[in-house]
Amino acid sequence: MKILVIGGGGREHAIIMKLSESKRVEKLYCAPGNGGISRYAECFNVSATDIDGQVKLAKQLGVDMVVVAPDDPLVLGMVDALNAEGIMTFGPDKAAAIIEGSKVFSKDLMKKYGIPTAKYEVFSDSASAIEYIKKENTYPTVIKADGLALGKGVIIAQNEEEAVTAVHEMIDELKFGKSSATVVVEEFLTGPEVSVLSFTDGKTVVPMISSMDHKRANDNDEGLNTGGMGTIAPNPYYTDEVAKECMEKIFLPTIEAMNKEGRTFKGCLYFGLMITKRGPVVIEYNCRFGDPETQVVLPLLDTDLCDIFEAIYNGTLADIDIKWKNESCACVVMASGGYPLSYPKGIEMHGFDEKGQVDGAFVYHAGTKYENGKFLTNGGRVIGVTSTGTDLPAALDKAYAAVKKISFDGAHYRTDIGKRALAAVKS
Ligand code: AMP
Ligand code: GLY
Repeated sequence: MKILVIGGGGREHAIIMKLSESKRVEKLYCAPGNGGISRYAECFNVSATDIDGQVKLAKQLGVDMVVVAPDDPLVLGMVDALNAEGIMTFGPDKAAAIIEGSKVFSKDLMKKYGIPTAKYEVFSDSASAIEYIKKENTYPTVIKADGLALGKGVIIAQNEEEAVTAVHEMIDELKFGKSSATVVVEEFLTGPEVSVLSFTDGKTVVPMISSMDHKRANDNDEGLNTGGMGTIAPNPYYTDEVAKECMEKIFLPTIEAMNKEGRTFKGCLYFGLMITKRGPVVIEYNCRFGDPETQVVLPLLDTDLCDIFEAIYNGTLADIDIKWKNESCACVVMASGGYPLSYPKGIEMHGFDEKGQVDGAFVYHAGTKYENGKFLTNGGRVIGVTSTGTDLPAALDKAYAAVKKISFDGAHYRTDIGKRALAAVKS
């Protein structure tokens, strides 16, 4: 098979490296891709959100399948456009991608079908939102932009002043454009967070190995929120008991709810969960593989990813026995100095072999370019250095040993990825 993967980050690199293990895959393409991906797949400079451009590329290349990995093209309807041309795709159509594209949709869905989530109200005018916040008078409170906002549309306001500012910035000043014209004001919950990616064809849902993201820029969960500074899998908070409860109360009801709404979801449905005192609740849904969760989940997959994608498209996921390695995986993100604020680009990186890899790890490139035989930084999150091991300490040791082999000026990474997970195992 010839497969085109749309996107250009660490998640896409992980998908491509997994697909490259499949005997069925003859040729891999990526658009736009990045420096590291270009060593595994032929890359084309077509933007991930350029629907016409990507459809044209897929037709020109005569591919057998297109994997649409990022959220924005899915929400814009890229899968619908590819399917209209008879091209096999992996990813939900526009009607189903709304589960991530609109927080109001997803919150209303959960309320309607009794799926556990934080209490909330929806507002499109700032005065009513502020009136509600003052009446509730409970802090922290959570304010979320309805639409996509590059993962930055969630504000945890510690007091009334911060809440009022967030509401004005979102609704009145359209800080996230049209995405924040409507907001969800939500109850603040506490508890460990678990990411569960799942494969689903709309009939069967198969959770993948659970994982844990580390969103803050610095050690001890300090500093600004980022796209994710590292991940580990499996997540020790996701016990068999929690998994059973999630399947009964969250996963199956969500698939069923989407079917009832006439929005059958096919692809990777990501459940962002919090394990609270009253049980697991949904913090968010994503209509795609998580980044950097994918980087620690796919290395543990022992079944041909190409077979899984095809079965999902054909609605035959129930026929596939999906197997996982009984190991752990850890991913440490190396970021540009200054990230998540401003940072330089074009800095030469050292330590790689000609494929952009080092011994003992999968190096998933997120923001690199490849020029004249050299790898240069080209983004905030630059690479995700990922290792598997018999247990989490072994995986972490290998990943951090590999990190030490790679250098570039200003490189920044957290030194405590997995620390919370290890503490949970001990307690
Ligand atoms: P989201 O983009 O919805 O995943 O939100 C980003 C992060 O904000 C989540 O991973 C949580 O850490 C936090 N968050 C979102 N909603 C809540 C909530 N209701 N209570 C506490 N933390 C939340
Ligand atoms: N790591 C969180 C996300 O992919 O949205």
